[in-house]
Amino acid sequence: MLKILVIGATSLIAQETIRHFAADGAEFFLVGLSADKLKMIQDDLLVRGAKQVSTYELDLTRLDKHQELVDTAMETLGVIDAVLVAHGTLTDQKAAEQNVDITLRELNINFLSAVSLLTILANIFEEQKRGVIAVISSVAGDRGRGSNYVYGTAMGAKSIFLQGLRNRLAKSNVTVLTVKPGFVDTPMTAHLKKNPLYSDPRRVGKAIYDAMKSERDILYVPFFWMFIMMIIRNIPERIFKKLSL
Ligand SMILES: NC(=O)c1ccc[n+]([C@@H]2O[C@H](COP(=O)([O-])OP(=O)(O)OC[C@H]3O[C@@H](n4cnc5c(N)ncnc54)[C@H](OP(=O)(O)O)[C@@H]3O)[C@@H](O)[C@H]2O)c1
Repeated sequence: MLKILVIGATSLIAQETIRHFAADGAEFFLVGLSADKLKMIQDDLLVRGAKQVSTYELDLTRLDKHQELVDTAMETLGVIDAVLVAHGTLTDQKAAEQNVDITLRELNINFLSAVSLLTILANIFEEQKRGVIAVISSVAGDRGRGSNYVYGTAMGAKSIFLQGLRNRLAKSNVTVLTVKPGFVDTPMTAHLKKNPLYSDPRRVGKAIYDAMKSERDILYVPFFWMFIMMIIRNIPERIFKKLSL
């Protein structure tokens, strides 16, 4: 039976992932901003077969509270077999360009908070010599684009951090999974006009569940984003800078 720490558990992608673990009878420690939302997810997971679900309310920009969060999760679960890190915000690029506080706040929530949490968690996983650390990054981190480079910077930095962490923890039999979704129809993108590249969060959640179970390293989801990003990464800079992407 798996014991799973879910950070940013109110994320729709996270919810669609952990439902599958609930059906397997997993035990959860859910972390999120809103107690009401956490309660709804707790009830849903229990109906779906979860053995036990604990919740913990925290604004994850409070880096000073991360150690206490992880300590409480450890005390509650006894052991952490897997962690899913899923919190984040989609940066308003235009607003960030005009205000350094917004830029730094976005880098904090989308990158530094993950670094802080993973630095604490990595040592636990390294010591126990097993487990899965799954973190949602984004295809947006594969190349800086004028239309979203603040968010893209956070995602790119997160992906590099995870790459290094994977290289370190592989020696301790620990899997580090970097999830790179393309556009997904969730509350985060609710205000954006949809196009055929958007995916159903249920499809994304199932793919993350499968990737965590099979201990994969990198998951582009849906799969075709791997090819789209391969093309985008390989456009020469002198051409790329003339495009409006
Ligand atoms: N949707 C996409 O197209 C897409 C594409 C690529 C990558 N991603 C990544 O996927 C992850 C999940 O996003 P999603 O699409 O599932 O959107 P979502 O449903 O809006 O989830 C984002 C979650 O982050 C939480 N959050 C934001 N700030 C927080 C804070 N300071 N402390 C604690 N929790 C905080 C939100 O909590 P509240 O709801 O309570 O505010 C929300 O539950 C994010 O990392 C996102 O960057 C999404």
